[in-house]
Amino acid sequence: MHDISDADRAVSRWLKVCLVLIFSMVILGGVTRLTGSGLSMVTWHPTGMLPPLGSEQWLEEFELYQQFPEFQKINRDMTLEGFKQIFWFEYSHRMLGRLIGLVFLLPFIYFWLRKMIKPGLTPRLIVMFILGGLQGLLGWYMVKSGLVSNPHVSQYRLSAHLLSAILIYGFILWTIFNLDTANNYRRLADSGVAAWRKASLGLVSLLLVTIVSGGFVAGLKAGLIFNTFPLMGGQLIPEGIGALSPWYLNPLENMVTVQFSHRWLATGTGILLIIWYIHGRSRFSEATLQSSFKLVGMMVIVQLLLGIATLLMQVPVLLGALHQAGALLLFSVLLFNIHALSRV
Ligand code: HEM
Repeated sequence: MHDISDADRAVSRWLKVCLVLIFSMVILGGVTRLTGSGLSMVTWHPTGMLPPLGSEQWLEEFELYQQFPEFQKINRDMTLEGFKQIFWFEYSHRMLGRLIGLVFLLPFIYFWLRKMIKPGLTPRLIVMFILGGLQGLLGWYMVKSGLVSNPHVSQYRLSAHLLSAILIYGFILWTIFNLDTANNYRRLADSGVAAWRKASLGLVSLLLVTIVSGGFVAGLKAGLIFNTFPLMGGQLIPEGIGALSPWYLNPLENMVTVQFSHRWLATGTGILLIIWYIHGRSRFSEATLQSSFKLVGMMVIVQLLLGIATLLMQVPVLLGALHQAGALLLFSVLLFNIHALSRV
């Protein structure tokens, strides 16, 4: 086992700070959606930082909001105080995005000038920064879809925004694992590992599909119907599951089918991950791998329970946010597990 250089350690620490901020950003995004705050800012100024100052500016911002269908069709009774509440969620979400940009960029320039970034890592970091910028753009593209006569954000754009956030998060996390374990490979003469690695890629892909399907449930507010488990309206296969035509629109636009798909896709993914944990734990004795399998096993059970509770209680803000955080944590521990597998 070799020591990790001081420079790598510093770069890794910086990326961990960015990662925690991105995690918070995803959860704050979820809370913004769950509190119905996402459409409160109807303009986008990528470099503007200040919130309304003084009552005149607040009134102006509120008047702008009043010109859009969400106010006219849903929030007609909203007072200025009520508006301020939803405004602050969306504002914090946007500002946190900008803060992340700065927390990423400034240390990057410092490390680069001091030649502390190891060869090959600079292009990766630049790609991360560009992806972060595009994520902001995609966020605005998503918000715009709700500033129309039907004041609901498109479930397609919401899921794309969620998925890309999770992929950027995963990219950074993987880079951190690489930095923290550099020169620390211990190739075991274990011929069966290749099959495990392949299977792990299948599992993480399945988890991402489950996450996207969760985005569709969230986007369509499909968690507000059929709040029972496992049956939906007293049936295993609920009525209305194929109501839309053509048929392929159902898993994308029919609330019943979207919820049905998510609950069973998630349950299937969960069962596979539990089997994965049971076999992995007895198959590998290396300490890091053992703990990574245990983390996957624990986290998947927590996430399944959170999902069911969120559904049964008709998506209260706290549970909705915890369920979203759980998805991100499950993805993180699975990546840890896959990274540990790639080192044996
Ligand atoms: C592996 C397990 C699971 C994963 C990875 C997962 C992931 C997700 C994700 C990423 C979302 C979107 C959150 C957002 O955008 O705010 C979501 C939403 C949701 N999930 Fe799951 N989920 C899982 C299991 C379940 C289960 C078993 C149920 C219920 C039986 C469930 C019910 C829901 C509901 C009702 C929502 C909508 C919540 C909202 O509107 O915020 N999930 N899920």
